[in-house]
Amino acid sequence: MKKILILGGAGFIGSQLADKFSKIGIVTIIDGLVDGTGGRVENICDIKNITFIEECIENVSDLSKIVSEQDIIIDSMGWTSHLGAISDPMLDLRLNLHSHLYLLDCLKDNLNKNSLVINLGSIGQYGSSIFNFVDESTQMLPIDIQGINKVSAENYFRVYSNLYGINVVSFRIPNCYGEHQPYTGEDIGLIGGFVRSALLNKKIEVYGHERKRNIIYVKDLVDIIYNVTLLTNNSFQSYNIPCNHIGIQEIAKQISYLIDQCTVSFKNIPENIKKIDVNNYKVDFTKIDNKIPRYEMHNLEQSLNFTIQYFRDKII
Ligand SMILES: NC(=O)c1ccc[n+]([C@@H]2O[C@H](COP(=O)([O-])OP(=O)(O)OC[C@H]3O[C@@H](n4cnc5c(N)ncnc54)[C@H](O)[C@@H]3O)[C@@H](O)[C@H]2O)c1
Repeated sequence: MKKILILGGAGFIGSQLADKFSKIGIVTIIDGLVDGTGGRVENICDIKNITFIEECIENVSDLSKIVSEQDIIIDSMGWTSHLGAISDPMLDLRLNLHSHLYLLDCLKDNLNKNSLVINLGSIGQYGSSIFNFVDESTQMLPIDIQGINKVSAENYFRVYSNLYGINVVSFRIPNCYGEHQPYTGEDIGLIGGFVRSALLNKKIEVYGHERKRNIIYVKDLVDIIYNVTLLTNNSFQSYNIPCNHIGIQEIAKQISYLIDQCTVSFKNIPENIKKIDVNNYKVDFTKIDNKIPRYEMHNLEQSLNFTIQYFRDKII
């Protein structure tokens, strides 16, 4: 059986990956349950046969030994609050860059050369692209603090791959939603914010008109990542993740249709959000489509229903 290490494995995406990989391999999670992130023990308490090390990687004394025993290492650590990163750029530097470089510096001397390392990057790395389509060769020009650190982290993965012969796949992930996503605090993601407001206040406020986003349901993301781990992955590759390009108002309308008596209203986009608002570009994911066998994605209504049910269980 393969051995899989998931860093940040108690977070939103990491815990869904842990659930999937625990069915086919031996999973170890390292997660410091960092305040303000989506890291929560409840995300992993139902997953059988995992080892959970509740520490930030910087404090794990036998990290070298642990990484040397793995076939797949997934770096799902991070902090996803764009506004939080602007308020506290040093914290963003620590969570979205420093810990990833710390990991790489440990991998360079200890990793089994056949192992695969996965970085979870973001399409936010493209910033506000002047193009209508972004593919993996499009210039990345981030427009916020988080974007800068995500681009830099991916560059460290690329350079370490080249310097030390590490096999790396870096995914550029769109807005993700679904079970295990954060449901408390500020800045919990576009769809999470809409669903919470729809359930608690029976209303959704959409900022601006005609804005579009690229979105993916978390279980579809996990299946795609899993499919890529079945390929032969050498040196460094980056992939845009397949997603649904959709108007924000369309998402709001779908949610209000699924939740009784919920209304949708429109407001001007606040200045602080406008400054870091990416434009309406569509993600080109031909590169990954040409690599992995056909994959099924949930339709929007299905996946929103699962997300709404999850929020209902948590907050009502
Ligand atoms: N959620 C999305 O929509 C989205 C979109 C694009 C990219 N991503 C990327 O995917 C990754 C995971 O995102 P998520 O939504 O699951 O975030 P999350 O906040 O739910 O999970 C991050 C986890 O990392 C842990 N962590 C942070 N620093 C750590 C450290 N030094 N040592 C150990 N654990 C640490 C946290 O405790 C938390 O459990 C991040 O890199 C994020 O940038 C997420």
